[in-house]
Amino acid sequence: MLEKINETTEFLRAKGFLSPDAGIILGTGLGGLTARISNSIEVDYCEIPNFPVSTVEGHEGKLIYGEFGRKKIVAMKGRFHYYEGYGSEQISFPVRVLKYLGIKCLFVSNASGGVNPDYEIGDIMIIRDHIHLLPNPLIGPNDDRIGPRFPDMGEAYDKYMINKAILIARKHGIRVHEGVYLSTSGPTFETPAEYKYFRTIGADAVGMSTTPEVIVARHMGLPCFAVSVITDLGVEGKIKYTTHEIVQQEAAKTEARMTTIMTELIESI
Ligand code: HPA
Repeated sequence: MLEKINETTEFLRAKGFLSPDAGIILGTGLGGLTARISNSIEVDYCEIPNFPVSTVEGHEGKLIYGEFGRKKIVAMKGRFHYYEGYGSEQISFPVRVLKYLGIKCLFVSNASGGVNPDYEIGDIMIIRDHIHLLPNPLIGPNDDRIGPRFPDMGEAYDKYMINKAILIARKHGIRVHEGVYLSTSGPTFETPAEYKYFRTIGADAVGMSTTPEVIVARHMGLPCFAVSVITDLGVEGKIKYTTHEIVQQEAAKTEARMTTIMTELIESI
C-alpha cells in the first residue's frame, strides 16, 4: 500500500501538487466550489496511477490543485462509491494520497436523505458523528507506518471545526443542523422501512459515501469536517419518488450556501 501511495504522490508532485494545506472531497452536485480555486492544475482521475475512475454522472472525476484564498488546496471533484464495485479501501485510497501530499485537514461534502423529521429538503447538516454500515476500509493487513491497527473513532469529526462552521452559518443566516450521518452501500435509495430503521438506530441523514474516506483519514490522524446537503426526505408521510437527477438538482440549489460555509471555514483554519 505504501509503495502505491508513494508512486501516486510522486506523480502528483511532479505535476505541481506541492504542499497543499487542505483536501476537499465534493459530493453529488456540489462541485462548484472548485470554480473559486485560482492558478489551478487539473488532472483527470484516469491519468493518475492507482486511482479508480469515477463512473457516476454529476461526478466529473478530476483532481484540482490551486490557491483558495490564502490556502493551497487539493479538491476531488467527483469521488468513488462502494456501489460502483470498488472496495472500501479503493474508494478511500485518494485520501491516503492527499495526506502524503501534505494536507493538514480533510473537508468532505455529500448529498443525503434526511431521516430526522425536523429536516427539510435544502437543509445543511454538519456531521457530528457517523454510523458506518459498509465494509470497513481498514480490513486487511495494517501498515503501522501509515496508522494504527485499531484507530479510535471517539471524535471522528473535529469539534473545533464544527463549532467554527456553526458560527459562520449563523453569521450568514444559514440554517444548519448537527447530526449523525449513516452510510449504506446503495445504489438503491431506501425503502420506507429502511429509512425508519436508520432513524431508529440513531441516524439523522443517510447517504452512500463519506464514512470510508473519514475512517481512512482518521487512521492517519487527519482532522475531518463534513457536511451533508439534504436532497430528499426519508420521513414517514414525506417520502417522495427520488432519482439521481432530483438529488443532483436539489444539491445544486443548496450548493452556494454550503460553499459559503466551507470557504470561510477553510480560510479560517
Ligand atoms: N438515501 C441514500 N443516499 C442518498 C439519499 C437517500 O435518500 N439521497 C441522496 N443520497
